[in-house]
Parts: sequence; C-alpha cells; structure tokens
Amino acid sequence: MSKKILVLASGGDAPGMNACVEGIWTHAQRFGWTIYGGAGFDALIHQTHRQLGRADATNISHLTGSVFGSGRSKGFKTPEGIAAAVANAKQFDAIIVLGGNGSLKGSWEKLTKSGVKVIGIPATIDNDVYFTKNSLGFSSAAEEGTRLVDMLNGTMRTNSRDHIVQLMGWGCADLSNFIGQATFADLIDTADTPHTPAQMAQVFENNRTAGKNGSTIIMQERINKDNRNFITEMHQSVDYWNQLAAFAGDDFRGHILGHLMRGAKPSARDRWLGFHYGRVAIELVHQNKFGVGIGLVGDNFTTMTLEQITKLNFK
Ligand code: F6P
Repeated sequence: MSKKILVLASGGDAPGMNACVEGIWTHAQRFGWTIYGGAGFDALIHQTHRQLGRADATNISHLTGSVFGSGRSKGFKTPEGIAAAVANAKQFDAIIVLGGNGSLKGSWEKLTKSGVKVIGIPATIDNDVYFTKNSLGFSSAAEEGTRLVDMLNGTMRTNSRDHIVQLMGWGCADLSNFIGQATFADLIDTADTPHTPAQMAQVFENNRTAGKNGSTIIMQERINKDNRNFITEMHQSVDYWNQLAAFAGDDFRGHILGHLMRGAKPSARDRWLGFHYGRVAIELVHQNKFGVGIGLVGDNFTTMTLEQITKLNFK
C-alpha cells in the first residue's frame, strides 16, 4: 500500500539532518512511498511541508542544515496549534521527527498521546538525547569545534595570550568535555564543574608561573531555562567578560563559537548515522511500529519508546 510520510526537522538544525532525509527517502523507494519535508512543528500546524522528489532528497548528504528548513514552534505550545498539528498529522501514515530532547518530548506529549504515528530520530549537536550514544550533528560539531579551538590556540599562544572559548551545547556538557579533552585544554568549565572568574584567572596565573605562555579554558554555554531566547544571562553578558578581563589582565581574550559549530560540514560519521537512522525509520514504518525513538546503543541501532526517552531526558 502506498504511504505518505512527513519528515520534520525540528529545533536548531544539526549537520547530518540532510543525510538522514536522504536515508529516509532512499529506503522508502523500496516500497514506493512518498516523502514530504517540513520545517518543525510549524510546518505541521500551517501545512507548509512540501513533497520531496529525487532532485530534492538525493545528493544532499554532504550539505549542512536542512534543505527544507528546521525550526522551533511557538504555535505548538498553544491548544489551537496542537489541535491543528494533530489533525494535519493524521493525514499522514507516519511522521518522522528529527530533533533534540525538546522535540522528542513534544512528539510524545502532543502527538503520540493523541494517536499520531510518530518515529523520533535524535538530531542535535548538543548530544542530549541520553539513550543514544550519538545524536546526528554531535560528531560534526565536535570536529568543527576542535578545528576552531586549534586555530584560536595557534594565534593565542603565539602571542602569549590566555583565552576562554565558549561552546554551544544548550544544557549539555558533552561538546565541551569532548573538545576540551581533544585539544588538551587547561580547564573545562561546565555546569557540573563551574568556576568563578577569579578561579579561572588563577589557572592562567598558575600556568604562567609554571612557565606556560598562554592557556585555554573551554566553557560550556549555560541556558537560562526561564527565557530560552537568551542562551545565558551571565556568560554572554558584556559585564561577565569584562569581569574576567579585569581578573585575567591585558593578555586575556574571550571567544564565543556559537552557531559556527552548528553550521559545520556534516562529518562522515553523521552521514553514516543519517543513512542508518533513515533506514531503521523506514523499517519501523514497514513494521507499523510507532511511538518510538531510534538510538545507537553499543554497535546496534535500537528503539526506545518516546515516553521512556522523555522520562530519561527530563527526570
Ligand atoms: O540545541 C541546539 C543549539 O544549537 C544549542 O546548542 C544552542 O544553545 C541553541 O541551539 C541555539 O539556538 P538558536 O539557534 O535558537 O539561538
């Protein structure tokens, strides 16, 4: 039987989303199913999705972002928006949501519970979907972040400068820990292991006393949960960086990598993950198995219910 499947790229885009779309489209051809794509839950509410033909959905795995956009939806927080999304979603045989923990939570609470047939695929540079080893986008952002920190270290250390590099990651320390360790940073500052400006300045000073000219601190961005439009009140405020500079002196510089990491070229690993997440999603539709998310656990692609994933992520 012919099926209509809608793929939604939700939240901040993640490198590898296009590879996953190509994976879904390619594997769906075995059954002759039709694939549509839309930018987040807004596409569902306003029906702005579009059908993906061969020219839209193939030869795109190397492209960053999402060819049909991605987005966060304010409408999906309102009763009218949710009702429209549910009604429109039921016109499809399956909805495949690519997104982070917030998108998977919304897929469970607002769609699956209302009878929509949803499959979730972890896609976020933050790597904060805890049941899978890697979400789509993490490895690309980690590679790009490492490359950028290397470049900064090169110029900073040549000029004997101490510096702090703040990374994206939402509330998750994975990117900071990974990149901090890969670049042998002098200190990794995360929400779990926070440091005051005075403590950070002390690290710089201790290293100088020990004969090291130019140290690096990798800092995890912190989100302000009450107002998600501003990633962090403290760490992005001019006052905060001025305070650091006051402690650390003239040879201190601060950097925020921000969206540069999210715009990374998809790594081979994320493209490979996209192929398999897409393959498994189509197999699940074929088996009529919905209300689950796909993850890579050990060497195996496996599933967990969206309900369990939500409980795990928001405990
Ligand atoms: O969730 C992905 C992410 O890139 C986070 O790392 C970051 O905090 C956030 O999105 C930024 O969101 P926006 O693009 O809406 O500013």
